[in-house]
Amino acid sequence: MNTLLITGVTGFLGGAALEKILNDNQPVNLLLLVRASDRAKGLERVKENMRKFNIRDDKLNALTEDDILLGDLGNPEDFLDDARLNKVTHVLNCAAVASFGNNPLIWKVNVEGTLALAQRMAQVTGLQRFLHVGTAMSCAPEPDSLVAESAEFRENAEHLVEYTHSKSTIERLMREQCPQLPLLIARPSIVVGHTRHGCQPSSSIFWVFSMGLMLQKFMCSMEDRIDVIPVDYCADALLMLLNSQAENGEVVHISAGEENSVKFADIDRGMALALEKAPVGDKYAQVSYETLVKMRRELKDIFGPCNERLMLKAMRLYGAFATLNVRFSNDKLLSMGMRKPPRFTDYIARCVQTTQGLTIPEQMAVDFK
Ligand SMILES: NC(=O)c1ccc[n+]([C@@H]2O[C@H](COP(=O)([O-])OP(=O)(O)OC[C@H]3O[C@@H](n4cnc5c(N)ncnc54)[C@H](OP(=O)(O)O)[C@@H]3O)[C@@H](O)[C@H]2O)c1
Repeated sequence: MNTLLITGVTGFLGGAALEKILNDNQPVNLLLLVRASDRAKGLERVKENMRKFNIRDDKLNALTEDDILLGDLGNPEDFLDDARLNKVTHVLNCAAVASFGNNPLIWKVNVEGTLALAQRMAQVTGLQRFLHVGTAMSCAPEPDSLVAESAEFRENAEHLVEYTHSKSTIERLMREQCPQLPLLIARPSIVVGHTRHGCQPSSSIFWVFSMGLMLQKFMCSMEDRIDVIPVDYCADALLMLLNSQAENGEVVHISAGEENSVKFADIDRGMALALEKAPVGDKYAQVSYETLVKMRRELKDIFGPCNERLMLKAMRLYGAFATLNVRFSNDKLLSMGMRKPPRFTDYIARCVQTTQGLTIPEQMAVDFK
């Protein structure tokens, strides 16, 4: 039987991958890298995350302390000598500091710790696949484009945040320094919500749309499009890629693509329908960041108690991504047999329902760890 090491299983994408494995009763030995003080606490952290995906208790009880590998990618030397790693046949590497904030651990974890893990796994003779989860945004895409996968990164590309810079750097370093690693790189686009559980597993990024519509102003136009996929589609694609025959070194987008990306105007209509109110429509104005800064005193009235500086920072960073109007080609993934993705607007009502009662500052905390 295969042995699958999953990192990041207490997070959004890793959790969704484990959801699928447990619900499908996939015959695989699991090794789950978790940060905790002991295996019992590590197992409880995994279960706590899986409950957000409404996993039944009998499925959860299939997980045991033997499945837990305690470890922190900030200090990889503490777990890389665990002999169980020598039995691993597949790795799904979801762990990262996925934050647009200035988390001082971004480089240490996403680059140094991840490289140490890749170098260790490259020594495992039975390893068939190391599926690394990158991000489509790491290529620093040109605005208004349909982006195809490329293993090359533009020299001196300007990154909007340290996070995407770290993600492009680790891809390059793994290629250069681990030539024997059976590496496959999946680059999801923008992962928002779950088709059945909405934002219950994570409210990551969903709040950006709500924020713009509540302000009736943002930096993108209503005609701009955005490439969003649900986390369960992303997880299905990751597990398909894990067992695919893709060439070592291949890069594959997991994305909505040209066909299933949506306009902000569609998102406005979808949210309005779910909230049973009129869309913002013509009342919406595309504005500069400077205009949003001038509204700083109004933010508390619109959003309730909030840190004005953090709200403005969020608008600046996410506004910069929202105005890119990029779609990421999914031709490669579809040609490998993956079904087409749903549109964000197909399941946006679930996201609206599962964030009712949560303020924007509460929802955005997950993205500024
Ligand atoms: N969400 C998106 O829209 C999106 C889009 C494209 C690509 N991605 C990529 O998908 C991957 C997963 O993202 P996500 O959205 O699932 O993030 P997430 O919900 O924040 O989960 C991150 C996971 O990484 C783990 N982690 C962080 N620091 C660690 C460390 N020092 N040692 C060990 N584990 C550590 C976390 O563990 P703790 O629970 O212990 O913190 C958590 O399990 C990332 O590589 C990200 O770049 C995400």
